Amino acid sequence: MTYTSSTVRVPETAAVPRHVAVIMDGNGRWATARRLPRVAGHTKGVDAVRAIVEACARRGVEYLTLFAFSSENWRRPNEEVSFLMRLFVTALEREVGKMHANGIRMRVVGDLSMFEPRIQELVKRAEAKTAKNRGLTLTIAANYGGRWDILQAITKLNAERAATGQLDEPIEEAAFARHLAMAYAPEPDLFIRTGGEQRISNFLLWQLAYAELYFTDLFWPDFDAAALDAAIASYQTRERRFGRTSAQVEENVVPRDAADSLSY
Ligand code: IPE
Ligand code: IPE
Ligand code: MG
Repeated sequence: MTYTSSTVRVPETAAVPRHVAVIMDGNGRWATARRLPRVAGHTKGVDAVRAIVEACARRGVEYLTLFAFSSENWRRPNEEVSFLMRLFVTALEREVGKMHANGIRMRVVGDLSMFEPRIQELVKRAEAKTAKNRGLTLTIAANYGGRWDILQAITKLNAERAATGQLDEPIEEAAFARHLAMAYAPEPDLFIRTGGEQRISNFLLWQLAYAELYFTDLFWPDFDAAALDAAIASYQTRERRFGRTSAQVEENVVPRDAADSLSY
């Protein structure tokens, strides 16, 4: 199924965000502050991942998406990139069994063709093993870029449109979004970035259209369950208007959007 787009119809919202998307930033600075090599921060960051996955599952978050490696992170020094690759392998080898036991469904999004075959194989196995689980859906974004995602979706959509002779027809949101790497998930409700920077860094560009943004100066290895609760508490104070007025939100007016019958 494809979820309704927040720009086509006002989505239902709940006190606990259904989908939390996180840019786990600040590992390097966490380590540098302790006079450790940057990569020590990445190792420590895996512990934080474990804690946050568990905390989200307990709080009833349905989808947790973690940005682990961006399409621009290849620009880093070779040693750091290969360390991150090895860390990804170890994490996949060590953590998937536990995740499966806890009912977690795992997905990896991004251009995996650039990873070594071992990683691709481990990812395939992890996804297959956990595919039928009904608990939290954990998505790891690896060699992911929001622009890559949009372009690969358009490429797939256009192949489909060419085959059916519809290349000149206007593109509808739903038809496009069905090809996004995360078409299986609703749009993020809450976006969290640790590490103090206030930017999106080419994360889920399309899907963050109406996400509530939360930035914290905490470095990722220091982000724990209490920090997650602070982010969720902040989320709970937000009024999600989706273009409506405050009064309409209070009256719970769910307009029949003109866009329902429009295609653009
Ligand atoms: C985020 O932490 C992890 C990855 C991008 C893989 P950083 O490594 O970017 O840490 P800082 O931002 O340099 O402190
Ligand atoms: C974003 O962090 C990517 C990940 C956390 C995987 P970066 O550290 O790469 O972002 P910039 O370079 O500061 O924007
Ligand atoms: Mg960074």
